[in-house]
Amino acid sequence: MPSTKPYQPLVLRLLHGITALVVISAAITGFLVYDSWDGRFGRLALTLKNRELIDIHGTFGFFLLPTLIILTIYSIRVGYRRLIQADSFSKLKEVGKPIWWYTLQRFANTLMLISALFALLTGKFQDENWLPQGILTQPWYYAHLLAWCGVVVALALHLLMSVKVGGVPLLISMFDAKIRAEDSPKLWSEKMKNWLRNPHL
Ligand code: HEM
Ligand code: HEM
Repeated sequence: MPSTKPYQPLVLRLLHGITALVVISAAITGFLVYDSWDGRFGRLALTLKNRELIDIHGTFGFFLLPTLIILTIYSIRVGYRRLIQADSFSKLKEVGKPIWWYTLQRFANTLMLISALFALLTGKFQDENWLPQGILTQPWYYAHLLAWCGVVVALALHLLMSVKVGGVPLLISMFDAKIRAEDSPKLWSEKMKNWLRNPHL
């Protein structure tokens, strides 16, 4: 475990926190929609069929588009060291070494991003009237259900790998409220101007 307390840039904490909240809320409400209107692959029968649940789920889905796209752009441009990189596949051969675990964590982060993007894409092809009309066999509907499984598996791996490489302090660092002086929002406009002037830095 690292000896110093991990620190995450404020922009990442905000983008990641909002996206994680929306993805998890969509996964829970999505499950409830499935559980009440479908249930062919198992059912807990937690709620009765109700139209509002579909609308609530659709609202989380609606907000997912901007937050997930911005997080994706940030992660690729700024946080790329924590996603898979050109040499990641060769690092997979170093089984058991610290770099192997870091590489697995990077795969897990990338998988989290891809699975959420897949749920977003397939969600956009859903019709809110299918389930109330008993239409349950549309290919895009099956793809969306599969995407839910992907998000659940990816989230489990994402959390497990983050705990493995950084322990609970790393998990907490993603939701910490402390702000370092050099990370202050007061400097954001200046940093943005610099970045626009020289985006390759
Ligand atoms: C991680 C899991 C999930 C995510 C991230 C997700 C995301 C989305 C998104 C982005 C939309 C489009 C909303 C819009 O802009 O109109 C959507 C719509 C929809 N999703 Fe999901 N979804 C998930 C799981 C599920 C599950 C398990 C079901 C179960 C049946 C489901 C059923 C629906 C339905 C019926 C719609 C259409 C609702 C509407 O357009 O108002 N979703 N979802
Ligand atoms: C409660 C749930 C979550 C926790 C506790 C959590 C925790 C973390 C932690 C600790 C890291 C930092 C890893 C590091 O510094 O090496 C991280 C990175 C990341 N997480 Fe999550 N995460 C959660 C949910 C999600 C969700 C739902 C997404 C969906 C998109 C997501 C996407 C990412 C991405 C893309 C990164 C890499 C960011 C970068 O460095 O650019 N996380 N997460």
